[in-house]
Amino acid sequence: MKEVELYNDHFQNYKVYGIPKAQLIIADVPYNLGNNAYASNPSWYVDGDNKNGESDKAGKQFFDTDKDFRPAEFMHFCSQMLVKEPKTKKSAPCMIIFCEFEDQFRYIELGKRYGLGKYINLVFRKNFSSQVLKANMKVVGNCEYGLLLYRDKLPKFNNDGRMIFNCFDWVQDNETPKVHNTQKPVPLLRRLIEIFTDKGDVVIDPCAGSGSTLLAAAQLGRKAYGFEIKKKFFADANKLVLSQVQQTLFQ
Ligand SMILES: C[S@@+](CC[C@H](N)C(=O)[O-])C[C@H]1O[C@@H](n2cnc3c(N)ncnc32)[C@H](O)[C@@H]1O
Repeated sequence: MKEVELYNDHFQNYKVYGIPKAQLIIADVPYNLGNNAYASNPSWYVDGDNKNGESDKAGKQFFDTDKDFRPAEFMHFCSQMLVKEPKTKKSAPCMIIFCEFEDQFRYIELGKRYGLGKYINLVFRKNFSSQVLKANMKVVGNCEYGLLLYRDKLPKFNNDGRMIFNCFDWVQDNETPKVHNTQKPVPLLRRLIEIFTDKGDVVIDPCAGSGSTLLAAAQLGRKAYGFEIKKKFFADANKLVLSQVQQTLFQ
């Protein structure tokens, strides 16, 4: 089995692939934004200007797969695919979900149902806001939210003796080509992977999109597996991960 592999399939079909269990699962789950994915974002209008009328993104969801996403099946996958709770301290696995603010509560509840009953809330602070159209009317959001979920023992934690805050800076990614419209910055993913895994550990992203998690994990010498259902995203992600991983190997 390869050490980095992306599958063009639903994560629900994971058993077919026999991938190893993960020390860390990172997933940016489809957001519960329905047909308002671009609300307050300039791309709702042609050329970002409301004088030009609405663009083809107005009233649309990010992906046609969003509405079919099944949070309970996702949590079942995570509960099955995280390594077993160890007997020793400082080596337990965990999962990180990037999710919409209100969805955090749903995932905290689901976590309890699927044996991942403990959590730490995470905030990712950007120095910009995509809600520019509301900027003169109200306080606009510049944060993304997430959860760290774990079973019982505190997860493996490589903090080098330093305090780690639950509010992370959203480091802009100027290195990685952009191939997906909700692509996460690879430096941020690397930071999370470094904290919660060691070299050689397995990282899984069940909703891989651009493959950014796999790329970050591979750059740090972790094994990485992921699933992406959309053919086009899968093809772009595969290209991105392979080309960038090769670059890393030859540096
Ligand atoms: C929010 S995006 C992930 C973006 C990714 N974190 C990145 O940095 O590029 C969610 C992705 O999950 C995919 N997806 C949705 N349901 C899925 C499923 N059941 N199995 C695998 N992929 C799925 C969607 O096609 C979409 O590309």
